[in-house]
Formats: sequence, structure tokens, C-alpha cells
Amino acid sequence: MNPIAQALSARRVLVCVGAGGVGKTTVGASLALLSAAGGKSSLVCTIDPARRLANSLGLKELGNQEATIPPAELARAQVPAKAPMSAMMLDMKQSWDELIERAAPKDVKARILQNRYYQTLSTKLAGSQEYIALQKLWELSHQRDYGMIVLDTPPTAHALDFLDAPSRILDFLDNDAARWLLTPALAAGKFGLHLFNLGGSFAAKTIAKFTGAQMLSELADFMFSVRGLYDGFRDRAKGVRQMLESDQTSFVLVTTPMKERLGETVHFHQVLRQNGMHVAAIVANRVHTAPPPEAKEQIARAPADLRERLATTLAEAELLAKDDQEALAALARDCDQTPIVRVPRFELDVHDLAGLWKLGQLLIEG
Ligand SMILES: Nc1ncnc2c1ncn2[C@@H]1O[C@H](COP(=O)(O)OP(=O)(O)O)[C@@H](O)[C@H]1O
Ligand SMILES: [Mg+2]
Repeated sequence: MNPIAQALSARRVLVCVGAGGVGKTTVGASLALLSAAGGKSSLVCTIDPARRLANSLGLKELGNQEATIPPAELARAQVPAKAPMSAMMLDMKQSWDELIERAAPKDVKARILQNRYYQTLSTKLAGSQEYIALQKLWELSHQRDYGMIVLDTPPTAHALDFLDAPSRILDFLDNDAARWLLTPALAAGKFGLHLFNLGGSFAAKTIAKFTGAQMLSELADFMFSVRGLYDGFRDRAKGVRQMLESDQTSFVLVTTPMKERLGETVHFHQVLRQNGMHVAAIVANRVHTAPPPEAKEQIARAPADLRERLATTLAEAELLAKDDQEALAALARDCDQTPIVRVPRFELDVHDLAGLWKLGQLLIEG
């Protein structure tokens, strides 16, 4: 059985991972469409989709809103959906704010939301996008009754960035040094510049030098406000990890067959497997297909002034196809536990339901 078809029937959560621009969002949307056609109510949770793709999924603005694609739209694109297909665009900042709203005690919520360190945590800290995307996935899978949720992910070149995201957030929240340094003063009600009276320890001076007094007091305030949240974050991280490892979930590693990308993809695959994750398939997207054998004869019959240019184009296409074949052979050798599904490069971008459906057919045939 085709590995994608198998994953669509056996799993409840599919996570599309891979570097930026390889086709994660497109493949993710196609997978959800296939799943809806297979009779499971399906959701694709996209991250930063191209505008035209978002439009064709019925998504107009960010905001974590799930939208069901009207059946008439599916019918117009000749998608034989047996169950509803929904889509959403993940809003990172809003998801973080909602998490704090739920997790933080009333009296500190506003303080956290306004704190500059929180804003760094929620938008810029490495891993924070991955963390919140996984968190949202956990919530959706526990609070909604979709038969299939496909998660698109932020572009991540290294699998470890992805899998380590929760622990990185935990490290940030559990900065022992900062805590040790700041908490006694905070508990004593000393804020702001008073922190400089901490005894002039080396650590205090160093932090102050790099962050400035204002930032130091905000860091102190942040550490103080989040001090009760650590356990909740740790439990949630554990829940997410269990979901990713469970047999409900599988990963789809999307890549392109470029030679330069090979090492990165092989490593990504290795790390996922070493961490106990199930990888349903590697999707090699935008593969250059070899020109058909009759192309040469057709060129021979072309008008003389065109012949040379056509022959050059043909030679280039053959070379691109040959390069891709070699890269895919190497990929198959280095990831031999996981099937590779090939999707050819289309002439045009994939930005509507008909295109997604066509790509989907190739995913379950390839
Ligand atoms: N097989 C394909 N053939 C042609 N264009 C493709 C194919 N797959 C994806 N694309 C296009 O490539 C671009 C990047 O795809 P996208 O899914 O947004 O990548 P990612 O989410 O990995 O950044 C989009 O414009 C998409 O329509
Ligand atoms: Mg994307």
C-alpha cells in the first residue's frame, strides 16, 4: 500500500516538517483534502500560507479561526469529499497570549502580556514558533473531534530545533541563574534600580551591563510573574511529546531533490527516528521529470531555426532530471527505513483546490 494512503487511514495526526520553501504547506493542505475525501473530517493547520492558497482554503485573515471549505467549492474543483475539510492559519502571537490567559493566575496575566521579555519569548526566541504550533496541535487534537489534523510547521532546517523547542522554552522559564539572582530581591519588594544593590555580584553586573537597568528590572518582573508557570509548561511539553511519539501520529518529511539539501534531509530523518518518531514518508517534491522519449523526434521535425534552441532546452531538462534521480537514489540509500514518494514539479504554483487535489493524487500514487 502507498505509504501516504496508509498513514491517512491509520493515523489521526500528520506533521509536515522540512526546510522553508520545499512545499510543506502545499503538501499539508493536499493531505487534509485527501483525508476528507477518504471520509475523515479533516483540518489543516497552516503556518504562513501563500495568500492565494489561503484564499482557496477560505481563509481571509490570521487568528486561529477554523473555517470549513464550502462543499460547493470542493465540488467545483471536482474534489469528491466525503467528510468536511477545514483549514486554519495559526497566529503565533495570539496562541501565546491565549496560553498565558489560560495558564497564568489572574493577578499576573496582564503583567506577563505586557512584559518585553514575554514579547521576546512569544515572537523571537528560537523554538517559540515550534513550541506554540505543537501546543496548538495538542489542544486541537484533544478538544476537537477531527478524524485527521494535519499540522504544517515553521521552516526548520534542523529536526533538533523542532523536537527541542519545548525544552528550550522550559530552559528560558527556568533560568536558575536569573532566578537565584533576582528572586530574593523581588520577594523583598525591591524593583527597578534597587536590583543593583544585590551585592554587586559578578553575575548581576554582567546582566546589567548587557541589558541595562530598565531591561534588568523587566527581566526580574518577568521571572517573578512566570514563577508559577513552570510546572504547567513542563506538563504540557510532556503531553506534546507523548502525542508525537504515539501511534496516532506520523511525520511527513518534505524536501526537494536538490543535492545541496540532501545532507540536511538525511539528518532530519535520522533525528526524528532516533527520537522515536514515526516517519510515514519522505516526500520529494518538485522533482524534475525526464522529457518523454519522443521529444527528440519531435525536435527533429521542428522548423530549422527553432531546432537548436529546442535541443538545448531538452538537454537542460535531461540534465536536471538526471541530477534529481541521482539525489533521490542517494536519499533512498541513506534513509532506507522510510519510503520516498515523488511529486513532479508542476509548471505552475499550486494555489487552488484543483491543484491541491491533483498533487494529492500524485502523493497516493507515487
Ligand atoms: N510540486 C510542485 N510544483 C510546482 N510548484 C509547487 C509544488 N509544490 C509546491 N509548489 C509551490 O512552491 C511554493 C512553496 O510551497 P509552500 O508549500 O509554500 O512551501 P513551504 O510551506 O515548505 O515553505 C508555493 O508557491 C507552491 O505553490
Ligand atoms: Mg509554509
